[in-house]
Amino acid sequence: MRIKAVVFDAYGTLYDVQSVAAVTNQAFPGYGELITQIWRLKQLEYTWLRSLMNRYEDFSVITRDSLTFTLNVLGLTFNGAVFDRIMDKYIHLDLYPDAKQALTGLKDRKLAILSNGSTDMLNSLVRNTGLHSILDATISIDSTKTFKPSPRTYELIESNLDVKPHEVLFVSSNPFDACGAKAFGLNVAWIERVTPQAMAAELAKADLVRPLSMFKALRMQMDEFGMEPDFRISALADLPRLMTADA
Ligand code: LAC
Repeated sequence: MRIKAVVFDAYGTLYDVQSVAAVTNQAFPGYGELITQIWRLKQLEYTWLRSLMNRYEDFSVITRDSLTFTLNVLGLTFNGAVFDRIMDKYIHLDLYPDAKQALTGLKDRKLAILSNGSTDMLNSLVRNTGLHSILDATISIDSTKTFKPSPRTYELIESNLDVKPHEVLFVSSNPFDACGAKAFGLNVAWIERVTPQAMAAELAKADLVRPLSMFKALRMQMDEFGMEPDFRISALADLPRLMTADA
């Protein structure tokens, strides 16, 4: 296999969606983790439901609506300033600590993001975190008016980067996204940040399952679609070595 482009999912893969917890906890002490998990679970659910209903709204609307849902369901009162402060974190998310070095180590290939994020959200995020000087393209699914894992979204890689699916390594930590990319025909590296063993150990020692553990169980374990990613890696830092083998 000769990989010409390495394409990354954004939220949860290059960017740590858990990093909103500092802001949500500051706004609502004691609720930070619960807000963070319900928000992300609902955000993804809304992408799939809106796609099925043919009622597309872009990811910034979905991110706002899922935050509204979360705060309302928890009975938390908020004003526009608090809401906007939390939302602002979405364009200042923390990069995973190994992201920049991993990307820099892959510079001999085309590098891009393919994300559910809207064009504005992604461009702000990429600029705020300094990735604009490393990436060749930041591709939003917005033009397809649907969300991952629709095959139409993965088609954007070929049309934007001029590479065939077999020349692409798609990298995601989101199991649904890794499966979607695999079903489409891309080479896939799934970042398994929580192994089944670590998951089992975490659940076994807890009297009460924490929201974060629930999130790890629901959204960070491989799904049962019978699709195996080509590579299971544990961190972004593993990628340069993987690509050296492909040189
Ligand atoms: C994205 C979502 C899947 O960045 O996290 O596309």
